[in-house]
Amino acid sequence: MKGIILHGGHGTRLRPLTHTGPKQLLPIANKPMSQYCLESLKDAGITDIAIIIGGTGSNKVQEYYGNGERFGVKLTYISQDAPRGIAQAIRLCKEFVNGEKFVVFLGDNILKKSITEYIQRFKDSDASASILLCEVSNPTQFGIADIKDGVIKKIIEKPKDPPTNLAVTGIYLLTPTIFDIIDRLKPSWRNEYEITDALQMLLQEEYKIIYNMVTDYWKDTGTPQDIIHANQVILSDMKPYFEGKEEEDVIITGNVMIGSGTTIKNGSKLTGPVIIGKDCQIGPNANIGSNTSIGDNTKLSNCHIENSIIMSSCTIDGDFIIKDSIIAFNSEITRSSSPNKVFLLGEGTKISL
Ligand code: DAU
Repeated sequence: MKGIILHGGHGTRLRPLTHTGPKQLLPIANKPMSQYCLESLKDAGITDIAIIIGGTGSNKVQEYYGNGERFGVKLTYISQDAPRGIAQAIRLCKEFVNGEKFVVFLGDNILKKSITEYIQRFKDSDASASILLCEVSNPTQFGIADIKDGVIKKIIEKPKDPPTNLAVTGIYLLTPTIFDIIDRLKPSWRNEYEITDALQMLLQEEYKIIYNMVTDYWKDTGTPQDIIHANQVILSDMKPYFEGKEEEDVIITGNVMIGSGTTIKNGSKLTGPVIIGKDCQIGPNANIGSNTSIGDNTKLSNCHIENSIIMSSCTIDGDFIIKDSIIAFNSEITRSSSPNKVFLLGEGTKISL
């Protein structure tokens, strides 16, 4: 079976974080979110994978993943000229798929559980598609499946009046039948070729779609709050390691993951789960609270940081508390001796003083 990861799209809901690169490269526990999709496919034995790229900074995707060798997979890049919809992105992969059953993973979906058993069930079945459904509290924001007696009756994109709270997650197990269906699709109200419309057309034409319920953790990381939540969940499952150095007078509690070349300096306190990348300088007097991820080459001193993502090459120095925040690559936050505040802010930046 082949795999497809969708790495294009608009990323508008995550601005300003997505002004310089695709949202799927934003780190969760110090790894790009799309790497979780790639690892999930690889763990299920799918190593021939196409990545759909398009939009701002899509060259960064190729720079990071290369030919896939570093990740134990073989990668093919397919460009989408504009985000015309998930179904249109899938259609671009017809040649790549070459008549096999295949799996599509939206690059901003995080699923904790292995997909191996879902794939096996689909391989063994005569179904034309298989979807994973998850109960959500905000069903108007997803594709939703209506189910009666264990059979899918209808699939609708972001319904105003949802018949159920069963979201269609962004992991689709498909057969090449879908390509003929997509060729006959019309764009939706948001001017996209919707995968939900393609699935609904499959149902109308009496093709079989099976489903599995995801009862473990699944998240569509559409908003900053979703990313912070996914970061908490992934950190809570990580095994601790300490490859750096610590000076005297450092207090560490809970699980911490510390990369090589990182120094935890005097008077600092880490309360896990916390991940800190390579070559960081933490302290003096840094208080890093739980559910925090800190990227490589970052320097934090005298500050208190909690439930946040600080990406690589940042500098934060000053006696402030930063909570529930995402600070992008190369940012600098320092205390000025003057009462005037000095800012150099990118478009769409959010600050709460
Ligand atoms: O996450 C699950 C939901 O994903 C489903 O419940 C919905 O049925 C499905 O339509 C989709 O909804 P979203 O509105 O959240 O889709 P979004 O526009 O965020 O795109 C999903 C991913 O696919 C994202 O990683 C970007 C990528 N993408 C999207 C489009 C429209 C592409 O690569 N190309 C595209 O043209």
